[in-house]
Amino acid sequence: AFNLKNRNFLKLLDYTPAEIMFLLNLSIDLKKAKYAGIEQKKLAGKNIALIFEKSSTRTRCAFEVAAFDQGAFVTYLGPSGSQIGHKESMKDTARVLGRMYDGIEYRGFGQEIVEELGQYAGVPVWNGLTDEFHPTQILADFMTMMEHLPGTPLNKIKFAYMGDARFNMGNSLMVGAAKMGMEIHLVAPKAYWPDEKLVRECLDIAETTGAKIVLTENVETGVAGMDFIYTDVWVSMGEAKEAWAERIRVMTPYQVNMDVIKQTGNPQVKFMHCLPAFHDEHTTMGKEIEQTYNMKGLEVTDDVFESHHSIVFDEAENRMHTIKAVMVATLGA
Ligand code: CP
Ligand code: NVA
Repeated sequence: AFNLKNRNFLKLLDYTPAEIMFLLNLSIDLKKAKYAGIEQKKLAGKNIALIFEKSSTRTRCAFEVAAFDQGAFVTYLGPSGSQIGHKESMKDTARVLGRMYDGIEYRGFGQEIVEELGQYAGVPVWNGLTDEFHPTQILADFMTMMEHLPGTPLNKIKFAYMGDARFNMGNSLMVGAAKMGMEIHLVAPKAYWPDEKLVRECLDIAETTGAKIVLTENVETGVAGMDFIYTDVWVSMGEAKEAWAERIRVMTPYQVNMDVIKQTGNPQVKFMHCLPAFHDEHTTMGKEIEQTYNMKGLEVTDDVFESHHSIVFDEAENRMHTIKAVMVATLGA
């Protein structure tokens, strides 16, 4: 079978389709075992460091709950309070934490930072989001798609990603779709399509897996016939607040609203979002942006978010089961 022991989990490009499928199946098994109350603690006695240079709700909680369920202990290192980045390099941090911990999660900025951590830690390092990639999110998304289309293999699934496709979510969904032989439509203004080099790499992978990768600015043709519509926040963590003005101007035609849902022509279409989402005025930041730019909802409207199409909280739960699978596979007894 698959031996992923001691492997880093930094980006899906490093994993074969069969290895990704193994992690998805392990996630499903771990979810069943937890629900049945028969989970076995494969991480008993392990110590895990969680480094977060950006905020998080889902990823941090998923790592903590997954670790505790499996018998491991965690240390949370937040955006401030440690020496990381200010006084100590990632290379030195890696060599220190690697002497104390059995595994390290990292969320931060450039992908090269988590790659450096992974190179020098000597223990498995897991990417909890960088500007370029969010690989644990993709596992949760694909697991959720499998649950909502039972019996349909991933390579028969079609989905559209709308909005900012040149950041972590667009990039990682494209890589994931390419690896698993899926049909992905990246529906976005051209300036927000993924990096050309990454697109070429994914098209190469698609040739061997049968994946179909479509880049389009056209919403109508882009969403027609899709099983899932996915979107993400228009301005990501680490970007300047000033980006909102331009982003709202170019992204508004790509908002996921009820017209888009209808344009799919699929009454069963499901709406997905990695979260957090700006869909109403119930957050201070969302309220400020919606009022400044006179918007009702941003990347998604409230009626879609709250509709029966929406499966966003299944996705959120599955973050925990899939992150648990990554830790068990790379570190478990
Ligand atoms: N989807 C996701 O990564 O959420 P958090 O930023 O809350 O971890
Ligand atoms: N693109 C978003 C994803 C959040 C999970 C961000 O980087 O802020």
